[in-house]
Amino acid sequence: MRRAVCPGSFDPIHNGHLEVIARAAGLFDEVIVAVSTNYAKKYRFPLEERIDMARETLASLRGIVVEPVGEGLLAEYCRQRGVSAIVKGLRSSSDFDYELPMATMNRQLSGVETVFLPTEGHYLHLSSTLIKEVFSLGGNVSEYVPRSVLKRLLAGESSPDQSGRG
Ligand code: PNS
Repeated sequence: MRRAVCPGSFDPIHNGHLEVIARAAGLFDEVIVAVSTNYAKKYRFPLEERIDMARETLASLRGIVVEPVGEGLLAEYCRQRGVSAIVKGLRSSSDFDYELPMATMNRQLSGVETVFLPTEGHYLHLSSTLIKEVFSLGGNVSEYVPRSVLKRLLAGESSPDQSGRG
């Protein structure tokens, strides 16, 4: 059983994440989407809601489980679950600069490898932060997030039409 983990805040999960997770599922027998909580960070959605959105969105894909990663080391989480690889999407060289030290540290801590997948061109500009900002300023994000996320964004605050026409 080759098991991988796709870790992240997923605040909220977006279509760029989904594309990387789906490709990871094609490479490994099981992919754990590990939703992190860092109490120093301020999240738009609480942990349970971030998990629910990921579960709802990924329900139709085989071999994917969504669970909280907790507050400890990702390397230790991987060791405890027999995870052989961390899978991350890379959008840019700045992503690579940010990810490389963590990949090396995680391998030195627990032997877990990190596999980088180049993000598909259409999603290269996406981040949860940018999506939240665009939405909060009235922009249409329906092209970038799954339905369950859009529903929750709309439930959380008033905003102009998000039906795809704007
Ligand atoms: O979506 P994010 O916030 O960029 O995800 C960051 C995440 C969860 C992948 C990263 O913060 C992480 O690995 N956290 C676990 C804590 C840890 O192991 N820190 C040391 C990294 S070498």
